[in-house]
Amino acid sequence: MNTRLRPNQLGYIGLGVSDIEAWEVFGTEVLGLESNGRDDDGSLQLRMDDYHYRFIVYEDKDLDDLQLVGWEMQGAQELADLAGKLGDRGFAVTPGSDELKAKRRVVDLIQFSDPNGLASEAYYGPLITREKPFKSGRSVSNFVAGDQGLGHIVISVQDRQETLNFYQDLLGLRISDWVHPQGDSSRTLTFMHCNSRHHSLAFWDVETPKRLHHFLVEVERLDDVGATHDLCQGKNIPIVISLGRHTNDEMLSFYVETPSGFAVEYGWGGINLETDDWDVRQHLSGSVWGHKR
Ligand SMILES: [Fe+2]
Repeated sequence: MNTRLRPNQLGYIGLGVSDIEAWEVFGTEVLGLESNGRDDDGSLQLRMDDYHYRFIVYEDKDLDDLQLVGWEMQGAQELADLAGKLGDRGFAVTPGSDELKAKRRVVDLIQFSDPNGLASEAYYGPLITREKPFKSGRSVSNFVAGDQGLGHIVISVQDRQETLNFYQDLLGLRISDWVHPQGDSSRTLTFMHCNSRHHSLAFWDVETPKRLHHFLVEVERLDDVGATHDLCQGKNIPIVISLGRHTNDEMLSFYVETPSGFAVEYGWGGINLETDDWDVRQHLSGSVWGHKR
């Protein structure tokens, strides 16, 4: 068994939203993603790089939240090893149907749930459409994605320790650090990485209206953060957390409200780390400056 078995990236997420038309406009004209249009099942796919898609947006009148998470494995052996590991520990693993593989545009995938009931998929062989270069829905230059995955998600979980055990021992993610906001350990956030992006997943066991607090997209140019900030202010789209710089991943970012109520962190300048040579840290503050609510 591969002792360093872990996903190589957070490849895609699925969002269930009540207003898919609003999301198409928000995704392309505000965030600057590219729309692939509607799939056969009515879902909307949004791109940010050479990957055929990174976000699958489903119409779901009641959810307005994270629907599923897709972790990319290196190849067939790694996917089989992960399926075996999950099965050994009593997690139900469903092989992806041919229909689902076609929909996801991957060679193979498995489905399982994390300890919080979050629908999760692991796959290998994503469709890369480099022959049709990414074209931003507005004038955003480029997103930092590729091998680092789409960005990160921050979610609420039922039990911090159980969730850590799952993502660390089974999925193989590693702890980057913990942030105890205002020194309050009941609000501790755990940050985990699987590649050089500081974190692909962060979680806390604070009860929140939605599972998803936010997802991050990172742009290559600082000016794209500024221009997007201007655009949100101009269109009166609520900026729920002001511009600021994070202590741990050093991301310079602001948070804007999506049509579903949760937020998107729009950032630049996050650090890169060495996956197998990183010393775990802790912080008492999430931000060096800014990020006012
Ligand atoms: Fe974030």
